[in-house]
Amino acid sequence: MNTRYSVFVLLLVLLACNTTQDTTMVKSEIIDKDVQFVEKLIADMTLEDKVGEMTQLTIDMVSVGAPYALQEPHTFDEEKLQNVLVDLKVGSILNCGGHAYTRDHWEKIIRTIQDYAVNKKESGIPVLYGIDAIHGTNYTTGATLFPQQLGQAATWNLDLAKACGEVTAYETRASGIPWTFSPVLDIGRDARWPRLWETYGEDMHLASELGVAYIDGLQGDDMSDAHKVASCMKHFLGYSVTLRGRDRTQAWIPERQLREYFLPTFQAAMDAGSKTIMINSGEMNGIPVHANSKILVDLLRDELGFTGLAVTDWEDVGYLVSRHKVAKDFKEAIKISINAGIDMAMVPTDASFPTILAELVNEGQVPMSRIDESVKRILLVKKELGLFDTPVVDFASYTDFASAKHEAKALMTAEESIVLVKNKENFLPLNAEKNILVVGPNADRLSAMNGGWTGTWQGDNPMYDTKGKLTVLAALKAKSQGKVSFAEADQAVNAAASADVIVACLGEGPYTEKPGDLDDLNLDEDQIELIKALKETGKPIVLVMLEGRPRVIRKIVDDAEAILVGFLPGDEGGKAIANVLYGDVNPSGKLPVTYPRFSNDIVTYDHKGTDKIDRKFGTDAFNPQWEFGYGLSYTQFSYSNLLVSPTSNGMHVSVTVTNDGAIKGKEVVQVYVQDLVATITPSAKRLRAFDKIELAPGSSRSLSFMISKEDLSFVGVDNKWVFEPGEFKVECGGLYKNLTL
Ligand code: GLC
Repeated sequence: MNTRYSVFVLLLVLLACNTTQDTTMVKSEIIDKDVQFVEKLIADMTLEDKVGEMTQLTIDMVSVGAPYALQEPHTFDEEKLQNVLVDLKVGSILNCGGHAYTRDHWEKIIRTIQDYAVNKKESGIPVLYGIDAIHGTNYTTGATLFPQQLGQAATWNLDLAKACGEVTAYETRASGIPWTFSPVLDIGRDARWPRLWETYGEDMHLASELGVAYIDGLQGDDMSDAHKVASCMKHFLGYSVTLRGRDRTQAWIPERQLREYFLPTFQAAMDAGSKTIMINSGEMNGIPVHANSKILVDLLRDELGFTGLAVTDWEDVGYLVSRHKVAKDFKEAIKISINAGIDMAMVPTDASFPTILAELVNEGQVPMSRIDESVKRILLVKKELGLFDTPVVDFASYTDFASAKHEAKALMTAEESIVLVKNKENFLPLNAEKNILVVGPNADRLSAMNGGWTGTWQGDNPMYDTKGKLTVLAALKAKSQGKVSFAEADQAVNAAASADVIVACLGEGPYTEKPGDLDDLNLDEDQIELIKALKETGKPIVLVMLEGRPRVIRKIVDDAEAILVGFLPGDEGGKAIANVLYGDVNPSGKLPVTYPRFSNDIVTYDHKGTDKIDRKFGTDAFNPQWEFGYGLSYTQFSYSNLLVSPTSNGMHVSVTVTNDGAIKGKEVVQVYVQDLVATITPSAKRLRAFDKIELAPGSSRSLSFMISKEDLSFVGVDNKWVFEPGEFKVECGGLYKNLTL
């Protein structure tokens, strides 16, 4: 350990020993002590120390081989380690070198990096390592993989979202890594967008609740805990709805919409204590967000009061030159982005960043106060993560890594993420005696259930599939005594002759970001044709959609007896789908996005009055394939006794739910409210409360919800949140009641 800060640590320990206050005081004292520790450290830091802290490089920059083309197996380059970590004093490293590593290799990586940072670098400040642990610790071999966020959203189960956070935090820390670039809090309102599956769907209330639950699972109430990591809210702000529906293309988002639709999830996460934020790579209203101090300072810091670390997205300082063309060269781009409020630059392969930033400071183009502000935020995250005391975890202590306990949570989440959207005459569940023919491109590949951020960035290399996980086909075979077979598309019609039921696993392959940009939201024609050909055989068809976004399947919906939408259910998705198909699990998923009927009609459930007007000037134009919040069960739930009453600060809603069927089931009770008249065009309805319950056959439960005037507010003409008195219509389970507030 380097002498400079070890002496200081000793002083601090002496200070801490004499505190006798109650735990609350000690807690705040500890936080103040963190600030004191950091401020003392900064006072001793050189400019080179400081600009090094603000630099984040990908692991390629300290490894043998060229960036993105490292020598395999991954090995370090001693010279690069010395240059990057000791000479340039780079304070953060991110990413894997192209694919997942074993925990043993992560141990080598983290021990090596921290040895250079803590023992060889003058300041001894540990490195903050960041990784995309997106649906589990997807860059560590064998880690537990959950459904992607859209699938987690389809569960409407906050306990499971938190469990995903807890397991991801545990297994990420078990890999020696204390920071994940997750969750995505962008609102998923454009079905074309290639990262829709990384969101919690189209509704701000549902997405906020899930994001907070997940962050709570990741961070807990003490990030220095050996089983917790720092979360990262991304991508701030206005990233998920572009004019073209393509990743990182221009977005036009007026301030009113920005505040009402894009901000709430981030606000909720900040209020829940998320410690870091990643900035949107895109341009909004003609201004790259990485160059926009109105967003990064006026809004994020001054108005929202966020005090954590703001990190750029991949290469977004350089992209101010090469893509956005708002800077003539890298030096100007650094000046613009740092002065706009960026704390840490994910450069990620240009090691000239710190030197140029130091030049800018020495030339007076970037004030030292701006540098100190960022360095303080960065060091506070390192301190709160306990990195100064424990730069390397006790790898041997993580006995629950990839445990059956963790796997069980991933399976439960996958099972609850499956949405039954059609079940004609209760065709499902399947009888185990039936001969089943499985077809389709997604029948026998894990990558179709995991999506991007799995083993590799695009999730498309089966070499990094988790060993032993079952595809849909394998899981169906495992549950049936030889009654399940598979046929390729060109053999499917022939094979159908000996089948009782056809299960067609369709949808998309894995992708993320630009590679996932789409030309046509319709399901690929070859898949449509496969179903049309199989329809001719007269055998009943069950569709299983495995996809990152709701591909349009209008042409084949009527050809199927039953349809499951599985989105990206993760490594346990095969088992989950088989359990649902055979009835061992009663499906309880509800759509977290509106499912379009036409590729040219992308609209969300909270549409406006004008969205209803149809070609004949009727009001039938809101006509999606399936609505947000929709999902069937193998049992039947009925709603009764909807009561609404005004309270001093809003309304009280109560309702009774009954399980009228013969099997137990989970139901997501959703309370929607429509503001009948308002100065801003009111949405058709807005989700204001929900709860997920389980009911035994024949049992009932009454639920009650408090909905405040704040919940009923909207962003008004002056871009401020406002509640307007008036008449409201409350809907729950198909029942309606009006009341005036
Ligand atoms: C990517 C993504 C971001 C990710 C980061 C680091 O470009 O936009 O979500 O966390 O780079 O991999």
